[in-house]
Amino acid sequence: MIKDLEATGIGITIGITVFLLVNVAMGRPLLPGAEREHEPIVVPEIDLNPESLYAKNCAACHQANGEGLAGAFPPLAGSEWVIEDPETPVRVLLLGIGGPIDVAGESYDGVMPTQGHLNEEQIALVATYIRTNWGNEGSEVTTEEVEAVKAELAARLSTPCSGGEELTTLRGAE
Ligand code: HEC
Repeated sequence: MIKDLEATGIGITIGITVFLLVNVAMGRPLLPGAEREHEPIVVPEIDLNPESLYAKNCAACHQANGEGLAGAFPPLAGSEWVIEDPETPVRVLLLGIGGPIDVAGESYDGVMPTQGHLNEEQIALVATYIRTNWGNEGSEVTTEEVEAVKAELAARLSTPCSGGEELTTLRGAE
């Protein structure tokens, strides 16, 4: 009985040794997943070019020239919401917006999806872009400002802004 156990033990030890030797001889990794170390790590590139950020994320609706499309997409050029303070456009980008809003003397009632897929730095860059182009003379928007607005809105980031009225209330609540 004891002899049988010893024989089995020796058998297993020889089996494992042979398995390891064969694998080492054939240059195979001994641990599962070890070969993954050799695959190149692909880091997705983050676009930090304001012009391209605008072209990819905004121009389809607000147009390359920032004029929007009459009756459907409001202009960013000459918009009081864009120019007056740096936080308001950032709120629009973080929350998205859907509901009545007057822009440059015209009424709109459309839906803009949140731009929350952009990170804080990208939002600062694109907000700066719309505040400083097409004759708009707003100040630069910093990443820190975007982070502060995001923290302020943390409890309600999943609910879009309901339109111009709420945007005005949020502006006053600073
Ligand atoms: C799918 C179309 C669409 C996209 C994409 C889009 N918007 Fe909008 N945006 C709208 C609509 C529609 C409104 C008005 C919503 C309403 O009526 O409540 C709006 C409103 C705004 C406003 C406030 C009103 C104004 O005209 O000043 C700002 C600022 C704004 N968008 C900036 C941007 C920026 C910057 C981007 C890109 C990062 C962007 N939007 C992407 C459709 C879009």
